[in-house]
Amino acid sequence: MIQFPMADRVAALPPYLFAEIDRVKAEVRARGVDIISLGIGDPDLPTPDCIIDALCAAARKPENHQYPDYVGLLTFRAAVADWYKARFGVTLDPATEVVSLIGSKEGIAHFPLAFVNPGDLVIVCSPNYPVYPVATGFCGGEVKILPLTDENDYLPDLDSVTDAEWARAKIIFVNYPNNPTSAVAPRAFYEKLVAKAKETNTIVVSDAAYTEMYYDPAEKPMSILEVEGAKDVAIEFHSLSKTYNMTGWRIGMAVGNAQLVKGLGKIKENVDSGIFQAVQEAGIVALNQGEPFAEQFRGIYKDRRDKAVAALAKMGIACRTPKASFYLWCKTPAGHTSAAFVTKVLQETGVVLTPGNGFGAPGEGYFRIAMTVPVARMEEALSRIAKL
Ligand SMILES: Cc1ncc(COP(=O)(O)O)c(C=O)c1O
Repeated sequence: MIQFPMADRVAALPPYLFAEIDRVKAEVRARGVDIISLGIGDPDLPTPDCIIDALCAAARKPENHQYPDYVGLLTFRAAVADWYKARFGVTLDPATEVVSLIGSKEGIAHFPLAFVNPGDLVIVCSPNYPVYPVATGFCGGEVKILPLTDENDYLPDLDSVTDAEWARAKIIFVNYPNNPTSAVAPRAFYEKLVAKAKETNTIVVSDAAYTEMYYDPAEKPMSILEVEGAKDVAIEFHSLSKTYNMTGWRIGMAVGNAQLVKGLGKIKENVDSGIFQAVQEAGIVALNQGEPFAEQFRGIYKDRRDKAVAALAKMGIACRTPKASFYLWCKTPAGHTSAAFVTKVLQETGVVLTPGNGFGAPGEGYFRIAMTVPVARMEEALSRIAKL
């Protein structure tokens, strides 16, 4: 048979860490065990009706049946700008400082293609959303990992990067509220990062997908663009996915520095043809009318968080109480690697967790819980683990 070996960039992808978990899951399911998945960061709650109604109405308009513009409807980009103004006090020009995305993952994956040449250095704070190093590798870029640890409050030590490394660095990826650790960045961190990026001509990519999943209205996560001068160096990726339970809809946005937005647009112009306009019209409704629903979802996650944190404390599993995101970043009990613990839990209880090393080597020794099932199911899952 003729062989078609895949390109080196595919061969260089890290091994798929979840393959073993998927195998065990199939085995456990075959035994008839009731599986509870706390694995995937995908909201279980439905999209609000007003957004669905807007989609249905917009889908009936013939003008929405043609190719959309890859940058997005100006009305959608204006709604993004209005939302950024209302939420963060950040002023954006919808024409030049906003681009619509087929979900923020799409934009994050394409962004390095616009700015990274083979051999360029890209700094990734880790544990991390896996797309950052993968997208870097696809461009031939070299990844430098900046570890996020409990000791450093999951904020990278920017001073540990040498001058020579800063000189080679094209991009630094940061993500707060953080997946998987749920850490939130304080203003002082963003100020230091912006200053360093300006001094060293480094692009800051801020992934802000979880800013609306906070628990205390007095401590709302911020946008990096709130920092003075951030727009000189930063592009921020955001999404309707987590805020309004729209992961399946595929709609997000990148905002900030006009050159960076334009560069990303240049890639998109050549690889996609934008988001179905009816989805964009529904996205406008989400941005304009979604806040009361987001508030309601925060209440539901807070109840889950409080109950889960209490249950984990009772069984002696160390975990910080998150201030944002729907993730719990928990220390693996002594004597187990992340993968071994997660496999044991799955085999013996049917509960799916995510091993911390799936987010990069600095995640070893941890596992992640996604609070994406109703309270009763989550309590059932945690009580099964407690009995282990
Ligand atoms: C940190 C982070 N960024 C971006 C995304 C992508 O979200 P979407 O493509 O649905 O906007 C995710 C999804 O889980 C995520 O965890």
